[in-house]
Amino acid sequence: MTSSAPKRSLTPPAIQARKGGEPIVCLTSYTAQMAALVDPHVDLILVGDSLAMTVYGMPGTVGVTLEMMIAHGRAVTRAARRACVVVDLPFGSYEASPAQAFQSAARVMAETGCAAVKLEGGAPMAETIHFLTRRGVPVMAHVGLTPQSVNALGGYAVRGRADAEAEAIMADAAAVAEAGAFSVVVEKVIEPLARAISGRIAPPTIGIGASVGCDGQILVIDDLIGLFTAFRPKFARRYAEVAGTIEEAVRGYAADVRDRRFPGEEHVFAGE
Ligand code: KIV
Repeated sequence: MTSSAPKRSLTPPAIQARKGGEPIVCLTSYTAQMAALVDPHVDLILVGDSLAMTVYGMPGTVGVTLEMMIAHGRAVTRAARRACVVVDLPFGSYEASPAQAFQSAARVMAETGCAAVKLEGGAPMAETIHFLTRRGVPVMAHVGLTPQSVNALGGYAVRGRADAEAEAIMADAAAVAEAGAFSVVVEKVIEPLARAISGRIAPPTIGIGASVGCDGQILVIDDLIGLFTAFRPKFARRYAEVAGTIEEAVRGYAADVRDRRFPGEEHVFAGE
């Protein structure tokens, strides 16, 4: 599962330098096993707080704790050799003040060995991003649809259709870029806005539901492989149907146990 090959991880500055170049490939992972499979193929692995839904069966990301992120972040960094590993700061661990954000980020980085943290929010988080980046914490920002604010936003609808909302999201992206974010996730905004942001800000934009006009793309791994089936986001392309494969395997095992076909001769330890 984990490899003994030396780590040659992509760094946040190396990701930042990819602006306007070959698209940056990003995916989430939450476990060492998945990270080992994902790592050779991507540039960046995000230990996203989407683990609330994919791992813990929560209805949204608001209930995630710093301890959960640290446990999964540690598992992923153990297995990743090449990709830049970024860990999400969960809701409530960074919004109160730049000092609170630094304490949380420092814990996450020291206890997981990740390269950077991600936090949600635009202009109101700019001061915090500036504070962190000046103190050795690379920050991936996240604007547009920010799921930790679902209660304030009133849901997960696409953002930027109204002119005023589009202007506010553009201002958010400009503020976090100016504050020093090394990359900016742009989630679920209309295509013209995603393209305009990508053309305007210096760091690379990483789109999720934000069109091919971004500098890179990210998806939740469980959406990509068809493991998360509670709902199917319009912006996620399914490359496999793993849930069906798992169900089929479990059905076969259950039938074999009930019919005494498992364990077979080959699984049995004979006496001397
Ligand atoms: O939590 C998450 O997985 C994210 C995404 C951008 C995919 O924030």
